[in-house]
Amino acid sequence: MERKGKFITFEGCDGCGKSTQLRKLSNYLTKNGVPHIFTREPGGGKISEAIREILLNGKNSEMTDECEALLYSASRVQHLHDRVQPALDEGKLVVCDRYFHSSFAYQAFARGLGMDFISKINSYAIEHYTPDVTIFIDLSPTEAFARKKGADENDRLEQAGMDFHNRVYEGYLTLAKTDKCVEVVNGRQTPDEIFADVLAILKKRNCL
Ligand code: TYD
Repeated sequence: MERKGKFITFEGCDGCGKSTQLRKLSNYLTKNGVPHIFTREPGGGKISEAIREILLNGKNSEMTDECEALLYSASRVQHLHDRVQPALDEGKLVVCDRYFHSSFAYQAFARGLGMDFISKINSYAIEHYTPDVTIFIDLSPTEAFARKKGADENDRLEQAGMDFHNRVYEGYLTLAKTDKCVEVVNGRQTPDEIFADVLAILKKRNCL
């Protein structure tokens, strides 16, 4: 599908340093006058943010894995409609904090729902809105949680346990090998070094 704007997504385990990189990119794009929007998943709009609250609320511990996966994809479809498509139509650069690779890593691999099920329920998003590039910040959950001094006790996903987060990480490593839209950045570097790699990738992929 012909698109006027570019669509880039950021991925990684909880606590991998994505937020710092997104802040740096925001400053860079503003300074350089690049028309853009920043958005995030789950969320990025009234309905998607309401779904986010259900998904991440630590009190919703009885949620089934299938319900979780379907809510992430429901939130995705609404978010694409509300925020991503309009900005792409205006020729803006869309920067999204997490996208369907998170559903593959967290729901397909870590929850064990499998790629087939997750591909099926995401087929609308995946077909029409493949990112121009996905930047995966490669930092293991052990290193990530050590850095942020433990998981957030109010966040349902962060509370899922180390085995779960290690499976998320393995899922990402598999995706990085198999999906050519994924570019890997070494998350053990300093924030400035990571950002230099991010910029180099975005330039190489003609997103800047
Ligand atoms: P958030 O607080 O935004 O985490 P982070 O700052 O690490 O991105 O919470 C989003 C959580 O939702 C995170 O634990 C990953 C999870 N998630 C999925 O499990 N599947 C998905 O499809 C998406 C988009 C996110």
